Amino acid sequence: MQFADRLNNVETSAIRELFKLLGKPGIISFAGGFPDSAMFDVAGISAASQAALQQEPGAALQYGATEGYQPLREQIAAFMAAKGARDLAPDQLVVTTGSQQALDLLGKTMINPGDKVIVEGPTFLATIQCFRLYGAEVISAPIDAEGARVDALEKLIAEHQPKLVYLIPTFGNPSGAMLSLERRKKVLELAVKYQTLVVEDDPYGDLYFGEAPPPSLLALSSEVPGSRDWLAHCGSLSKVLSPGLRIGWLVAPAALLGRAVLREQLGDAVEFLQPQGGLFLWVRLTGKGGALADAGELAKRAIAQGVAFVPGAPFFAQNPDATSFRLSFATADEDKIREGIARLAQALKA
Ligand SMILES: Cc1ncc(COP(=O)(O)O)c(C=O)c1O
Repeated sequence: MQFADRLNNVETSAIRELFKLLGKPGIISFAGGFPDSAMFDVAGISAASQAALQQEPGAALQYGATEGYQPLREQIAAFMAAKGARDLAPDQLVVTTGSQQALDLLGKTMINPGDKVIVEGPTFLATIQCFRLYGAEVISAPIDAEGARVDALEKLIAEHQPKLVYLIPTFGNPSGAMLSLERRKKVLELAVKYQTLVVEDDPYGDLYFGEAPPPSLLALSSEVPGSRDWLAHCGSLSKVLSPGLRIGWLVAPAALLGRAVLREQLGDAVEFLQPQGGLFLWVRLTGKGGALADAGELAKRAIAQGVAFVPGAPFFAQNPDATSFRLSFATADEDKIREGIARLAQALKA
């Protein structure tokens, strides 16, 4: 078998090898970060599944929006708001299959081979592997009981100009360390100062024995001007509900989120048929949610955002459809297409 070159960077996970042994009778496992299966709310999850299948069987079993089921996005935004991220709108997050997919999306959208990323030493093994798979050089920043040492972190950021800094500020895996409030604010300031994306992975923030942990970086970002633009936040229901459900989410700056989702940047503001050939995509503005429905007006705004397309009306001999327009996907390469669609999404909002 000729495996992809990117796999050369990845060592076999020691943990995965260990997991193979865990089925042996009598083994007491202190190995995996698995919640106790006896704690799963089997009755609750079963009742919720039944209700979903009865109330919306089609939607429950059908493909859904790439960003995730809208009512779930709303619930997650409300959950995060209750923990201090008060200004978080549902469209600022996407639902993922666990926070590991969120990390993978970040790797995919941010990391070119040879890019540097900074993580805590030690940190979550799967993250190191994921970023290495995308070709990153992964650099460790030292930690103490208060989490990442921000003085050392600043030096590393200044020296390496990393593509991103990945932190588990609350009950780090494997360290259990807790980034202090003061350091959290400092990390956000560093993100702005060095214009470096900080990724906060927070699957454990709700699992505390005594005093609640300090607010997440996401919640604190409203106190540090500009920091939300340099912050991504990965959340997960794995440790508080069930890892088997594979539900996590990614909150990220709009441009990054848009690139992670692609076609879905335009949401339900547009509809089109996926062409099976040719050069063109024929799009209609739906006007849903009060979005702009006039393609001529959109074309003007789009030019201002640096993206061009042809409004559809002149293509009709009779009864012109003012909501339609044509996009040629033949000229721009994939990166340019993504950038162009992001600009178009901006024009729609303008
Ligand atoms: C720091 C960290 N991030 C993410 C995950 C995985 O979360 P998920 O099950 O949501 O993919 C874990 C699980 O061990 C973890 O420790």
